[in-house]
Amino acid sequence: MSYSEQHDEPTVCNLSETRKPVEPCTIVIFGASGDLTARKLIPALYHLAKDKQMPPAFRIIGFARREKTDESWRQELRTALDQFSRTKPVDEQVWKDFSANVFYCVGDLTDAAAYAKLEQKLTSFGSAPLRKNLLFYLATQPSQFGAVVQQLHDAKLLHRENGEHGWQRLVVEKPFGHDLASAHALNAELTRFAHESQVCRIDHYLGKETVQNILMFRFSNSIFERLWNRESVDHVQITVSEKLGVGERGGYYEEAGALRDMVQNHMLQVLSLIAMEPPVSLEAESVRDEKVKLLKSIRALTPADVAKQVVRGQYFAGAVDGQPRPGYRQEPKVDAASNVETFVAMKLLIDNWRWSGIPFYLRTGKNLPQSASEVRIQFRPTPSVLFAAQCGQNLDANALTLRLQPNEGISLHFNGKVPGIGTSVRPVRMHFSYNAEFGAYTPEAYERLLLDAIAGDATLFIRRDEVETAWQIVDSIRKGWENKPLTNREFYAAGTWGPIAADDLLAQLGHEWHEPQVIK
Ligand code: BG6
Repeated sequence: MSYSEQHDEPTVCNLSETRKPVEPCTIVIFGASGDLTARKLIPALYHLAKDKQMPPAFRIIGFARREKTDESWRQELRTALDQFSRTKPVDEQVWKDFSANVFYCVGDLTDAAAYAKLEQKLTSFGSAPLRKNLLFYLATQPSQFGAVVQQLHDAKLLHRENGEHGWQRLVVEKPFGHDLASAHALNAELTRFAHESQVCRIDHYLGKETVQNILMFRFSNSIFERLWNRESVDHVQITVSEKLGVGERGGYYEEAGALRDMVQNHMLQVLSLIAMEPPVSLEAESVRDEKVKLLKSIRALTPADVAKQVVRGQYFAGAVDGQPRPGYRQEPKVDAASNVETFVAMKLLIDNWRWSGIPFYLRTGKNLPQSASEVRIQFRPTPSVLFAAQCGQNLDANALTLRLQPNEGISLHFNGKVPGIGTSVRPVRMHFSYNAEFGAYTPEAYERLLLDAIAGDATLFIRRDEVETAWQIVDSIRKGWENKPLTNREFYAAGTWGPIAADDLLAQLGHEWHEPQVIK
């Protein structure tokens, strides 16, 4: 009997022990005066410092046009940290040590002189690794990526090869273009003076603990993986619902819509982790190869398929939790006759050996009744004999739900006898909850992603071919919508689960959406 069995002590298998040590480096944030830096990046870097995960020496330089001094920027960041930090209060000593490494560089992204100033600042740190090992975070408009990369190259701050020049990496976030052609052009700009391996494309869903757990759960448990195929699974539902409306983001959203904003990236990423084959190793390229293979096996949609398999919707005025919400067309910076979708639901089929014929349903939307992300693996019902013969549809088939947020955890649904003299069966649930098992510690997605970018671990970043394959899927759907304004059936009241057509989509095969679970 092993030690762990005798003592009922779980053995922790620590995979990060093989991780490369993080080397001293400088993080340069372009577009540093934007919201992202104060809300997400600095709080994440502060927590990495607090958890002693940052390299032994590091500097952070904010690069933006607005006039600021090092000191005034630090003060601004501190005020924001008080508000956005996931742990409160801010630790004074940690902040003091951390902020001493934070600097500001005023400059225009297109001005060569500003990059010369940046170079001087880097040199003034008086350490080769701090000058050469550079993480460039492009928190700018994608239309500016090309100019920044060109300037960095001209200023000899960005080199294609590692080695004598240290390492340099470019971190970018969505939108990675607005269709396949623009993504292609953007990727060409990013890799003009850098290798693909130097580009870290962030999808913040991959930084979420529960999303990372999909792989651990699938491939470290034998009982589920052997059921994870067309023999046992009836269908899969992936829901990412949000109570929030578009609010102040109308300008951006008019260009994006739910399909580009959520499906092209977050939802297809979750789908690929749920459905991919086991990778040959946990190396970044093996994992990413399998994800791309999965995306490539999604059956292409013709415009006729789009009409049958994809439902879009736009919210009109309603109420969420009793609070009145305006319609999308009344939101600021939204065209009063806009046809942009704020909801999308679809059925995708995966043409590979494992999943042939099994529907994968995806839905996402704004102003829905709940904010929740979850994946439901619905298993096949039992044969229609014994209990099922009598109970029919009332006997819920087994399901496994991965709750990605909130109430992070996993639930298994099965049937049990209701205690008593009579013979009744009803569905019951077994819950695993992250908070109950591990306590309430959940690092922000950006902490993990920034650390991986510093360490040069590409597993959680999106590779060029992944982005482009995802765009192919999204483009085929957009093609089906071309020149088709929204019809009455495609509107839904804020605070409801989308247009009726989304229910009809599942009803075609006798399925129905399951509302995300609320675990008290
Ligand atoms: C962003 C989208 O990428 O993800 C937003 O642009 C969306 O529209 C957000 O609200 C959802 O992220 P999360 O982490 O809150 O589920």
